[in-house]
Amino acid sequence: SAASLADGHGRRISYLRLSVTDRCDLRCRYCMAETMTFLPRSAVLTIEEMGDLAARFVARGIRRIRLTGGEPLVRRGVDMLARRLGALIGDGLDELTLTTNGMRLAEHAAMLAAAGVRRVNVSLDTLDTAAFRHITRVGDLAVALRGIAAARAEGLSVKINMVALAGLNEDQFLPMLDFCAANGCDLTLIETMPLGEVEADRSAHFIPLHHFVAPLRAERAIWPVDKRTGGPARYFAVEDSPVTLGLITPLSDNFCATCNRIRLTVEGRIYMCLGRDDHVDLRAALRDGGDVDGLIDTALAGKPRAHDFRIERKSAPAVARHMSATGG
Ligand code: GTP
Ligand code: 5AD
Ligand code: SF4
Repeated sequence: SAASLADGHGRRISYLRLSVTDRCDLRCRYCMAETMTFLPRSAVLTIEEMGDLAARFVARGIRRIRLTGGEPLVRRGVDMLARRLGALIGDGLDELTLTTNGMRLAEHAAMLAAAGVRRVNVSLDTLDTAAFRHITRVGDLAVALRGIAAARAEGLSVKINMVALAGLNEDQFLPMLDFCAANGCDLTLIETMPLGEVEADRSAHFIPLHHFVAPLRAERAIWPVDKRTGGPARYFAVEDSPVTLGLITPLSDNFCATCNRIRLTVEGRIYMCLGRDDHVDLRAALRDGGDVDGLIDTALAGKPRAHDFRIERKSAPAVARHMSATGG
């Protein structure tokens, strides 16, 4: 179909990040506080409601959907949702993907592949067992690695998401690159973003990616490639490596001018920008037969030009909402 969405700044909006739960089985230090209050059941859309809204977005021009959380694989019924959205591939939708912490990936990899998912992004910040436990507070590295292996065994492409954390995983970048080469994965690095109180000073671990990748550049050349995945990563080839390296630099080099995406939360809110509080609530309209399409238009027209993250603004989060509420 010729349906197409644009925002008030002339940007084509084709990518929907669909957060299917705010819950998670990990407590990554840069994402969550140790004790989190999650949404009550009454606030949360059913799987059918999420499917209905997502289908509406596809009818309006969304071409890629990424399932996120919290951790999407802890939501009961996510398999039904994946199958329903997977059925739209080729019928408006180009791609259905998922971002996961990998804890439950082994048990869901076959389901995802059968639903039509071709690639997944797996959050993995270190290959050191003790550091993994420290960063995630509760996670078991071996379980994450089994999840990645299961996804590869099902034929899914895997891109590792590694949040760059000064003092916590700088030493892990080259080992992670080797791990990705050995396991047929790609690797994307992400600058830590200041969303939500997480009980520690996140800015103490902030490191711009050009510093994080310096040890690689000292040994090998990297050069830009024109690969695009719909997300904000800029991609590079690495000398003597099969790994495509992605860099996501919201703070040191923001990419808002080419933003193509919006977020739908499990409460039925559209967040127009990750780094802002502005949102439009679709839940009431969805449940009462209200004007959902009109609200989508309102949201698009109000999409901000850019986020407001600043490196120099030290400890305080730019927005109170946690990363896990919108899935990044
Ligand atoms: P693909 O490009 O489809 O592989 O995925 P993606 O990079 O868009 O999704 P993923 O869930 O793997 O997100 C990687 C990182 O990019 C996370 O830290 C997200 O929070 C961040 N990210 C995604 N979209 C935006 C955005 O619009 N603004 C900002 N600041 N960060 C974003
Ligand atoms: N800054 C940057 N990335 C983050 N993620 C979670 N919290 C943050 C943050 N504060 C990442 C996760 C996951 C992706 C969806 O977002 O590691 O890979
Ligand atoms: Fe869970 Fe992902 Fe947040 Fe870690 S970053 S606590 S895995 S939602």
